Amino acid sequence: MNNIQEKQTDIILSLDNISRTFIQGDNSIKVLDKVNLFVRRGEIVSLIGSSGSGKSSLLHIAGLLEVPDSGEIRINDIKFSQMSEKQRTISRRNSIGFIYQFHHLLSDFSAIDNITIPMLIAGHQKSYAINKAEELLNKLELLNRKNHLPSQMSGGEQQRISIARALANSPNILLADEPTGNLDAKTADIVFNQFLSLAKDENMAVILATHNIKLSEKSDRVISLKNGSLIED
Ligand SMILES: Nc1ncnc2c1ncn2[C@@H]1O[C@H](COP(=O)(O)OP(=O)(O)OP(=O)(O)O)[C@@H](O)[C@H]1O
Ligand SMILES: [Mg+2]
Repeated sequence: MNNIQEKQTDIILSLDNISRTFIQGDNSIKVLDKVNLFVRRGEIVSLIGSSGSGKSSLLHIAGLLEVPDSGEIRINDIKFSQMSEKQRTISRRNSIGFIYQFHHLLSDFSAIDNITIPMLIAGHQKSYAINKAEELLNKLELLNRKNHLPSQMSGGEQQRISIARALANSPNILLADEPTGNLDAKTADIVFNQFLSLAKDENMAVILATHNIKLSEKSDRVISLKNGSLIED
């Protein structure tokens, strides 16, 4: 295989001409205006842009959580528009890990349950799920919090549990919406490095939205979203 072919087949996620406008009363906000983006296997891409520029909207569309007004999304070369509802659910569950800006942990379940539940839903055995969850908790230095409820953990600990939950099913694509937002600078740095090394270990393609320019510089590419368009630095 020559280099060009190799590079093309390495693309695991692509957004082609994605547009999204929100209409609120008389106001219409064009958040994404024919946006194009591709990410290769194992590549870490930072997405920066001011508050309200559309970073979360872009990640939700890339993660098949929301539907764009127009444009196409390809995951592993499968077009979103040609996926059945069942295929979309399977892609969301098995190919994509999502770390929400507001982590959405299940408040009535312990840390370890929050991590094992997605694996059980994906059909893994309970013993496998528990082993894998403990391995992730260990890597994130949170094994001693495994039986804590979200309300019994600090914000940073909850954020790390949500990172572990997103990594549990070993997705090829990890979409992280400010995974270290709300953390003090020192903790953000530690958690960010743990996050990068876990993603690199598993050769995941990552898009991470962040306001932190210093952390974004640790990624392979930095793109910024402004006035509905993406600009590559
Ligand atoms: N469901 C919605 N209905 C109407 N407007 C929306 C909706 N979701 C987002 N918006 C608007 O779209 C714009 C982009 O929002 P988005 O959450 O994608 O921004 P963001 O870049 O993630 O911001 P932040 O850095 O603050 O998280 C904002 O102006 C927001 O008010
Ligand atoms: Mg956001």
